[in-house]
Amino acid sequence: MQFGYFDDEQREYVITRPDTPLPWINYLGCEEYFGIISNTAGGYSFYKDARLRRLTRYRYNNAPLDSGGRYIYLRDDGFPSNSNGPLFWSPTWQPTRHRLDEYECRHGLGYTAIRSKLAGIESHIRYFVPLGENLEIWELTLTNHRSKPANLSVFSAIEFCLWDAWDDATNFQRNYSIGQVEVLDGMIYHKSEYRERRNHFAYLACSEKLSGFDTQREAFLGAYRGWDSPSAVEAGRMSNSIAYGWQPVGTQHIKLRLNAGEGKKVIFILGYHENPQDEKFDPPDSQTLNKRAVIPIIRRYLQANQVEHAFQALRAYWDRLLEKLQVTTPDGHTNRMVNIWNAYQVMAAFNLSRSASYFESGVGRGIGFRDSNQDLLGCVQLVPERARQRIFDLAATQLPSGGAYHQYQPLTKRGNHEVGSDFNDDPLWLVLSVAAYIKETGDWEVLCEPVPYDNLPGSEEPLYNHLERSIQYTLDRTGPHGLPLIGRADWNDCLNLNCFSDTPGQSFQTTTNKDGKVAESIFIAGLFVLAVDEMAGIARHYQHGREADEFCDAAQEMRTAIWAAGWDGEWFRRAYDDLGHPVGSKECEEGQIFIEPQGICVMAGLGIDDGRAKQALDAVAERLATPHGIVLHQPAYSRYYLHLGEISSYPPGYKENAGIFCHTNPWIIIAETRIDRGDCAYDYYLRINPSVREEISEVHKCEPYVYAQMIAGGDAPTFGEAKNSWLTGTAAWNYVAITQWILGIRPTFEGLEIAPVIPSAWSGFDAVRHYRGVRYVIQVMRKGSGNKVQLEVDGKAIEGTVITPPRAGTKEVQVTVRVA
Ligand code: BGC
Ligand code: NOJ
Repeated sequence: MQFGYFDDEQREYVITRPDTPLPWINYLGCEEYFGIISNTAGGYSFYKDARLRRLTRYRYNNAPLDSGGRYIYLRDDGFPSNSNGPLFWSPTWQPTRHRLDEYECRHGLGYTAIRSKLAGIESHIRYFVPLGENLEIWELTLTNHRSKPANLSVFSAIEFCLWDAWDDATNFQRNYSIGQVEVLDGMIYHKSEYRERRNHFAYLACSEKLSGFDTQREAFLGAYRGWDSPSAVEAGRMSNSIAYGWQPVGTQHIKLRLNAGEGKKVIFILGYHENPQDEKFDPPDSQTLNKRAVIPIIRRYLQANQVEHAFQALRAYWDRLLEKLQVTTPDGHTNRMVNIWNAYQVMAAFNLSRSASYFESGVGRGIGFRDSNQDLLGCVQLVPERARQRIFDLAATQLPSGGAYHQYQPLTKRGNHEVGSDFNDDPLWLVLSVAAYIKETGDWEVLCEPVPYDNLPGSEEPLYNHLERSIQYTLDRTGPHGLPLIGRADWNDCLNLNCFSDTPGQSFQTTTNKDGKVAESIFIAGLFVLAVDEMAGIARHYQHGREADEFCDAAQEMRTAIWAAGWDGEWFRRAYDDLGHPVGSKECEEGQIFIEPQGICVMAGLGIDDGRAKQALDAVAERLATPHGIVLHQPAYSRYYLHLGEISSYPPGYKENAGIFCHTNPWIIIAETRIDRGDCAYDYYLRINPSVREEISEVHKCEPYVYAQMIAGGDAPTFGEAKNSWLTGTAAWNYVAITQWILGIRPTFEGLEIAPVIPSAWSGFDAVRHYRGVRYVIQVMRKGSGNKVQLEVDGKAIEGTVITPPRAGTKEVQVTVRVA
């Protein structure tokens, strides 16, 4: 069952009924001002940091679902003479949930538009954030389709958050006394705490003359009433309340008379502004907000032509980004995901890491070290300059030991002490992201840039040294089998082999009850081989560090350790626990085989030559693959194991306990391409592809246009149900799997490689890839059933699969690829 459809032409997903199984969201903003917005206008906004600079309130975990948003109410001031509809309603369905005659939500790239019609009144609201601005626009167009004039009231409503979302949701004894606003010329300014240490405020503005406003929540709603039936809307009258403590809101009232057939545009702006510390007040010795800088910005965007201009600029921005790679394959799902949604999701993950979604509250997690380095793998080609900066930001939270803070706050860019470090896989991901960045851009200079450790001034060293320390960190921490010690956890945050937590409420990620000198990770071992191979490639170009050979030797030693203690006979083991017993082995009662080491070890090249890679992937196919994707391990853990930690805390089939943890599926897809099994790789690709799953939306439940972190595995009664959509490494890795390994268009240090491993039934595909300033027009033709590649560049056959950069000044190159 579907709740909408894809409009590929417009690059939109069109939701055709408001009661989707879950709020289906989109993101507004792509620079510093962000918001999440659902298909019924729910969500919230923030500046840079979803925890520390939250503009509006949202109530997670609430009923009804999706409470708090960018609300508009329409009131029929001619009621009851018109008996066709209710007195007032929400044209976005929420929060009043009146049945609408027509409804359609279009989630596009960086904008959302919700159109509806009730009792002859059509409403169209377009929400977006103009490029370069810290504000969002709600452009409302109302049309009267009745045969008579309509007298309407329009109300806008948001609830301000008192900036720190965590404090806002917990510290009521103080917060009920700090709310402050100013209202001037119909603009509402939220300035809680501005009188003291803040220099920022929020505002809500409207293009029309107000009939009234309210800024005190209960004045608008009425005591004990909710957003579904505000007393001010019911009465059609505001009380011009000025919030002083309690709950500041921004609500505005305008009255319109629309003749039959007449339309009218009303623009609302919600925004954020910072003043220089010494220019906070105007006049300077007053307590009044200095609005001199912000008023011209507000005035500008209250004009319809400026709004249209900004909207077109946003469309052009996304066109430019997506242009970097466009493909035409025989499969519509692949085209749609590669050309539009997968790339778009990668950018959302890049922008927000794992901080703010319908499943991430914005208060818990900032920018993850491991997460963001992986996100970079998917977006270095889209935003190379920003990727470069992100690499520096991440590397600056690396510690002198080579380890890294697990996450940092986006506002301060400082490592987050609540989680700390010692996730022993973390530093290796930095090597992968830097390698991907260089392969894309050819910018070797990046290695020489000075970057501090732990953000300490004076500790700067070239980025290259950070990478060496990353590698050294693993070498310094090996266990009894010569395999890397796992620390708090590796990629699988829930495999907590040193935790031994028996106390409710303890964090599995930060509680450590063992000294951690025994438990080892075969996943990190595989990741190490992958990273060290990249390091060798980097070292060949960078002359001031260790020799490439040293890295090759280190990789070889690790391979030996993996084969000696990490191979279970038919697949790779997962780890060794604190007692030195294997995890992910036939010897285990539960959790006999795990997906992660099969993926990462084969990606690192292990066993490709001698059949063991094939054996491992056959075991995955036989034991882990399901119609909804590949589960994390089998058998699921049926009870809590003190020595394994959080992984066994989830009910079987959920999350890390044998859920389909989608992030890992593309590793298997890539691994399958490494052993030339294109059909199998592609089959796995389609199983978790959200566009393919659209037709089972009633089962999948999450948005059909983006990947979810998790789909319930076969051990769960809800097999096939997705959760935690949007902010997941699944986006970047699937993008890498499909574009670089199945379609085979792969940046290398030397140039663009083209080595497709496509399904046998495909006759070929076309692609346009922008790479290092050159437009590669690629035509792939299948001439036989294998994966042998023959390349012609501008009509001339070349050796091998890598196209070295053409002569300076070349703008376009034609590539013909024969696959046989
Ligand atoms: C989740 C993991 C996540 C970890 C860290 C766990 O509860 O299951 O997926 O990585 O928390 O936030
Ligand atoms: C989600 C986390 O964001 C990521 O860092 C981790 O690797 C996976 N969960 C698996 O536990």
